Amino acid sequence: MIRGGRGLRGAVQISGAKNASLALMPATLLAPGSYTLSNTPNLRDIQTMSRLLESMGLGFGHADSTLKIDASHVTKFEAPYEHVKKMRASIYVLGPLVARYGHALVSLPGGCAWGPRPVNLHIEGLRKLGAEIDVEGGYIRAKAGRLKGARIVFDVSSVGATGNVMMAAVLAKGTTVIDNAAMEPEMTALAQFLVKMGAKIDGVGGNPLVIEGVDALHPADMTTIPDRIEAGTFLVAAALAGERGATVRVERCNPDHLSAVTTKLEDIGAQMTYGADFIEIQPPPAIRAVNVTTSIYSGFPTDMQAQWMALMALAQGTSIVTDTIYFDRFMHVPELIRLGANITVKENIATVIGVKKLTGAKVMSTDLRASASLILAGLAAEGTTEVLRVYHLDRGYESIEKKLQGLGADIRRVAGEEF
Ligand code: EPZ
Repeated sequence: MIRGGRGLRGAVQISGAKNASLALMPATLLAPGSYTLSNTPNLRDIQTMSRLLESMGLGFGHADSTLKIDASHVTKFEAPYEHVKKMRASIYVLGPLVARYGHALVSLPGGCAWGPRPVNLHIEGLRKLGAEIDVEGGYIRAKAGRLKGARIVFDVSSVGATGNVMMAAVLAKGTTVIDNAAMEPEMTALAQFLVKMGAKIDGVGGNPLVIEGVDALHPADMTTIPDRIEAGTFLVAAALAGERGATVRVERCNPDHLSAVTTKLEDIGAQMTYGADFIEIQPPPAIRAVNVTTSIYSGFPTDMQAQWMALMALAQGTSIVTDTIYFDRFMHVPELIRLGANITVKENIATVIGVKKLTGAKVMSTDLRASASLILAGLAAEGTTEVLRVYHLDRGYESIEKKLQGLGADIRRVAGEEF
């Protein structure tokens, strides 16, 4: 429940990156022993991944953002539908299981609020490394002897496929070259973790990745990078609903991971100050309409598209928001329109005509980032906004209402389980 119109000001601390943790956790399947992953956020998706890996024999302890994993015994080599349907990232167990155990049975991810979200690149990449893969009955069945290094060129830059193939190639015999590898910071973090575990990877953070397979890896500890999408979400919240003349300071973030977003915020007229691990934003007196086209890293992230749309709803003028990664990631549009936004979508291009004000209403979350955009719009709307199905939000934002309350927002969780 949000009562809009309260100006945000003050400091907020960013948690660890969900999409880094979701790759680091299954990587522990690659070597037996104990691991400590610091700065792991307490999120529903992290719990889902923990439960999946626990069902495979791993042990977990998560306190104060420190995740301890005991990967001494892996007793099951499956990711059943009931886990995978909750979270697509479950497919990250495929690469490690095939590489270390030579077999895996992983459910195809179900649909998502928007999609389709295929996994062909994951499958083709593992086949190139020598795995035999059948897809039947909604499951990916993989079998392999020792994987062999290969040259893999992804038609499309894919975070998930890059992660899966990287985690398989590190134990393959010989050299693997991955071209058109995803360069998102979360994949760089995964590569750094694998290197700490004894993997040989060159070109980390760029293209191509060159991986010299080794016979075995060993456990390692890692501090997870900050969540750039959470940080970006709070920066956009400040631009949209920040107290004019005041500042919001986003702490424990990595400004280098956010340049595409902060540049756009400068374009709309926000005053930005950058530190080593914080960004300060002073919201603009009026929001300029600025176009955005999402792209792979280090372009404007698709995971920030819905949040940007909320900001543009109150801009002065018309803006064009284009998503080149997911052509139908616009489930938030009808809900923003209920709040008074003026948006039309044609294929993967949204035209946002800025309006003078938004008016609070009941709106429905459909997916993680859509729900974030509805919260942001509610903060700026006049009156009360009730965002339903906030379990979507809890997948990827740690205590978002507490963090926003800390910035002065009038927001509270009315029903449903505390998470
Ligand atoms: C990751 O998903 C993120 N999730 C997503 O964040 C993010 O939106 C996405 O990357 C893009 O940045 C996690 O890291 C857990 P992709 P992923 O494979 O790996 C196509 C969030 O909000 N593709 O990089 O599934 C695909 O259709 C989530 O935190 C294929 O064609 O995304 C898309 O157009 C939502 N075949 C493009 O690649 C494949 O086999 C990028 O997808 C795989 C992907």
